[in-house]
Amino acid sequence: MRKVWPLRLKKWLANMCGIVGYTGKDEALPFLIDGLMTLEYRGYDSAGVALLGEKGKIEQIKCKGRVAALAELCKKFDTTPTTGIAHTRWATHGEPSDTNAHPHADCFGTLSVVHNGIIENYQELRAELEAAGHNFKSTTDTEVIAHLVEENLKREAKGDLLLALQLATSRMVGSWAIAVIKVDAPHELYVARSGSPLVLATTDTGAYAASDVTALAGITSHVINLEDGQLAHLSYDATRAKGEQARIEVFESDGALVKKPDTFDIDWDASAATMGGYPDFMAKEIAEQPEAIRRLLKDRLTKEGIRLDELNISPKEIAAIDRIYIVACGTSYHVGLIARTLIETWAKIPVVVEQASEFNYEEVLVTQHTLCVIITQSGETADTLASARKMHAAGAKVLAITNVIGSSAAREADAVVYVQAGPEVSVASTKAYTAQMVASVLLALFLAEKTGMMGPREVENKFEELQRVPDLIEEVLTRAWQDEAATPAFTDAQSALFLGRSFGATTAAEGALKLKEISYLHAEAYPAGEMKHGPIALIDNGFPVVVVCPDDHVRYKTISNIEEVKARGATVITLATDNDQKIAQLSDYLLLVPPAPEYYTPIIGVVHLQMLARFVALARGCDIDKPRNLAKSVTVE
Ligand code: M6R
Repeated sequence: MRKVWPLRLKKWLANMCGIVGYTGKDEALPFLIDGLMTLEYRGYDSAGVALLGEKGKIEQIKCKGRVAALAELCKKFDTTPTTGIAHTRWATHGEPSDTNAHPHADCFGTLSVVHNGIIENYQELRAELEAAGHNFKSTTDTEVIAHLVEENLKREAKGDLLLALQLATSRMVGSWAIAVIKVDAPHELYVARSGSPLVLATTDTGAYAASDVTALAGITSHVINLEDGQLAHLSYDATRAKGEQARIEVFESDGALVKKPDTFDIDWDASAATMGGYPDFMAKEIAEQPEAIRRLLKDRLTKEGIRLDELNISPKEIAAIDRIYIVACGTSYHVGLIARTLIETWAKIPVVVEQASEFNYEEVLVTQHTLCVIITQSGETADTLASARKMHAAGAKVLAITNVIGSSAAREADAVVYVQAGPEVSVASTKAYTAQMVASVLLALFLAEKTGMMGPREVENKFEELQRVPDLIEEVLTRAWQDEAATPAFTDAQSALFLGRSFGATTAAEGALKLKEISYLHAEAYPAGEMKHGPIALIDNGFPVVVVCPDDHVRYKTISNIEEVKARGATVITLATDNDQKIAQLSDYLLLVPPAPEYYTPIIGVVHLQMLARFVALARGCDIDKPRNLAKSVTVE
């Protein structure tokens, strides 16, 4: 029975920000600062730390700016506390400032709170607390948590911090991952979660809390996932038996002890989250693409065809799929566009691709045979998660293609394909993009094979061609000089146009997004054939136009578009296949790719556009890994 999904959608709001907490035998500050550095992808307009010393005093150090500025500031403090919490912020309520930076304290500085999320009813809670005599210092929503806990401690909770936090969360509307420390509990940390991610872990020397497992890299591989509505008490007591000194107890929202918290293991390569000699993470992540793809392709072809066991879907269910919805945001949405063409061409299943932020407010046609595929590097993008929940509620099966193990997307989906690209730190997505495209190729081949639309021989041929892609990317990487040489075309420009047809239109869109986000240069992508319906008016002498025109079935058509812009004075930078004399004559700059099947060219060609964006951003003096206003994981709708 076909069902129309109505415009009913629970709001899943969360602000970005990253939090970390520690209590244990060692000094807390090194872990807190390192953890914040790792979580800086979640936001970086201000940062702060609260340290709890033996002497029953909380020291709060916070500032506007990046974690590096906080680290500098912390050097001035000669403190060695072993318990602390810390925060890196992406402002939603209250401008970025020293005062609004977390942690936030209660009226008397007896407790300190960090928070990732949004307290939607903070205004009414604040009014109530102010009326009760509480004194607020910031304009943030978070500060109400500190005062609410303080108020509860005085009243019903009678000094019991877990109960006070539990009562506070029962009054709050919105989303949160919270960590709290209190002066009279020097070896304890209290946390709560609803809607924003929070993971916990213990080692022989301490107990840890973090927004994301990456902050725990090199510390442990066994992690507790605090579930929505749960709270936890983290403690360290040197007098307990060895192995028991650090302890985590998890509680449901009603205070009942959770006997078996949800746990998972991470397969770490700790070096993957460091720069390893590269000038920035983006450079490193661009270079890592061949290896990431090889890893993903390992053992994917067996005698039975493409191995995609993760899909967890029977041949009968595949045969019954009536439509696939692919939902994603930003760069991951561009992967969806490529995936649609591959699935429709090879498996002959109709595919709809939607940007999650739009999809969530549209009516969608879902039957019990509809498959929803969400694509998300971080697995934490609020809009994408909301789409998955909407599709689940409508009865569709949800498959997540994601990079982050144990992410919300991975946990909530019915099936997960991990793209195994390794930690992607730079805000501009590169290796996750190409790995997600490769995962989409595998999905398309798998579906084509299982639906009988592609014979085993052809599947094998296409897989073998796919296995050559990493080598071809390696070849493109050696041609970075071509991208650097093209940089002068952009340095004084106000805007740039990216054109392409078919797969090339998506590569153009991704190239324009990369350029915008890291160089702050306006760039617009347009299907090349549509250009004459408007954007051609932009072209003037020296206007940079990047044309994606590899040797594919639309090459001749796209060449006509190159002629059109050239005739109007544009500076033409063309992504073309080796030895294309015609294009060489028409172009001012060439970004050349080796010959490859056209369905794999988007995976190879985009590497040039990633490098081009990076060189332009460097020439314009921009911060490559942390572009202004952006965060890696967009956990706000
Ligand atoms: O983690 P996700 O793939 O869900 O993120 C989606 C977008 O926010 C992301 O791709 C964004 O567009 C990147 N910064 C692009 O480089």
